[in-house]
Amino acid sequence: MLESFSAVVPGRVNLIGEHTDYNGGMVLPAALSVRLEATLIPRADDDITVIAESHAGPAKRTLSDQASGHWSDPCVGALREANALGLLTGGASLNVHSTIPEGAGLSSSAALIVAILKAARAVTDGAQTDIELAIAARRVENSYMGVPCGIMDQMAVALATPGSAMALDTKSIDYKLVSLPSSHQFVVIHSGIKRKLTDGRYAARKLECDRAKKYFGTDDLCLIEPEVLARVESNEPFLRRAMHCATEHRRVLAAIDALQSGDIETLGRMMNESHASMRDVFEISLPQIDALVQSAFELGAIGARLTGGGFGGCIVACIERNSQPGWINRLLESHPDARLIDAIVP
Ligand code: GLA
Repeated sequence: MLESFSAVVPGRVNLIGEHTDYNGGMVLPAALSVRLEATLIPRADDDITVIAESHAGPAKRTLSDQASGHWSDPCVGALREANALGLLTGGASLNVHSTIPEGAGLSSSAALIVAILKAARAVTDGAQTDIELAIAARRVENSYMGVPCGIMDQMAVALATPGSAMALDTKSIDYKLVSLPSSHQFVVIHSGIKRKLTDGRYAARKLECDRAKKYFGTDDLCLIEPEVLARVESNEPFLRRAMHCATEHRRVLAAIDALQSGDIETLGRMMNESHASMRDVFEISLPQIDALVQSAFELGAIGARLTGGGFGGCIVACIERNSQPGWINRLLESHPDARLIDAIVP
């Protein structure tokens, strides 16, 4: 029988720090219990076969295929990268089993690519570290898939540990794990609105940030003082995008301090301010998501915000541990399209 190699990685939720990871700033993602398992059997030829329960298939591809918008593109990209890294010398038969919903902002694509790279590493007992595989996975998104994303998702799914958040400096790729409070939980609720990072809206924000980088002569919009930005007299969108990055980065730093000192009120306030900035300044929210966040707050969440790339997907809310399950039931009753995905209960 042919030998198979498997790897399991979690989905992630970002607690705070959105669109800072390609602007030199901090993020604070945490591992979820929804997860993805990739099982790989290496092949001597260049053929690729992918079976995934969530898609009709199998998908039949080859290593020379370009990305075509097909659901199996991340698999092809990951296997091409595994060959470039010397982990494989040919295609593979892949089997994917996942409980991470797609199009929800919970890193299903990063999880798929990282899991395949980890499984490929096991084939040759490769020496690549998890950080190196995360960087390789980002290359697949940027260069193969054409998604100009940052490094947060790949680092989170490759390295995050259950029960902790990952305080990641995306400029240096240094990180530390921060314990989550046992008195509270972080609930992830899908708005019911699916979105794709490849649909152009994420890339449009990236282009506006690039414009701001050029204007201010720095790659690190997050490190510009908000006061400096406030003095620029213009109503151009790229200035608002830079302002979001600069203030969001500082909110992440404040949230990390708050978690470390057990100041949940401040953590919640940072989450709420982050949502307001995504809604009014970075402009990546939607009325239905604003309504869900507002209800989460009115029903007693300490903080609630859109999470992920925006324009759909999930919200994350910090609630007292003992408000379950009443809080969720009341929220879902008033938002019939929404559904509970996961809860981080440290
Ligand atoms: C997506 C991208 C990440 C990050 C977030 C927004 O998840 O993949 O790199 O930019 O959006 O914070």
